[in-house]
Amino acid sequence: MDADAAPIRLASAADAGAIAVLSRDTIEAGLPWRWQEPEIARFIRSDRHNVIVSDAAGILAGFAVMGYGADTAYLALLAVAPMARRGGLARRLLRWLLKTGEVAGMASITVDLREDNLAAQRLYETAGFVQFARKTGAYYGRVNQVSMRLAMRPAQTTS
Ligand SMILES: CC(C)(COP(=O)(O)OP(=O)(O)OC[C@H]1O[C@@H](n2cnc3c(N)ncnc32)[C@H](O)[C@@H]1OP(=O)(O)O)[C@@H](O)C(=O)NCCC(=O)NCCS
Repeated sequence: MDADAAPIRLASAADAGAIAVLSRDTIEAGLPWRWQEPEIARFIRSDRHNVIVSDAAGILAGFAVMGYGADTAYLALLAVAPMARRGGLARRLLRWLLKTGEVAGMASITVDLREDNLAAQRLYETAGFVQFARKTGAYYGRVNQVSMRLAMRPAQTTS
């Protein structure tokens, strides 16, 4: 880790409001606000999700939410506040989650994102994610979605 990089920590209930607002203003910009404080608080309480945050001078600089299934993890939300961008924070949040996915024995990690979000596509591509699906109008009939996957290890087969 960078010696002067802001630490990444697990979110607490007190972070839910700020996370919801950052989601509304970045990930959900121009769309109805789905991930409001109660939904974020549920993720924070859930034992099947990790919610991580990083602060700069006491203000939320970035966050991410990942859910863990039996074999596959789902990166539900990830955003960095405009004033904190292009300093490597998204990459560090992602690295934290990929490490936990690896430790949890996940075969793969998937993420859905807006097709018009080229910055995020680039972020995931550089981490090794590959696009495997596309849905026209998936976000309220207005915005197309692409799905990307990172293979962590070959999926287990049952016989
Ligand atoms: C996408 C986002 C998370 C990137 O955050 P960030 O902290 O600025 O990203 P980083 O500084 O860690 O950049 C990591 C890599 O992502 C890519 N990237 C980030 N921003 C980019 C941009 N504006 N244009 C092109 N590539 C970009 C680059 O490959 C970059 O590596 P580089 O700096 O070596 O070129 C941020 O712009 C954001 O929050 N956007 C709105 C919400 C969102 O899109 N969330 C993700 C989808 S759920």
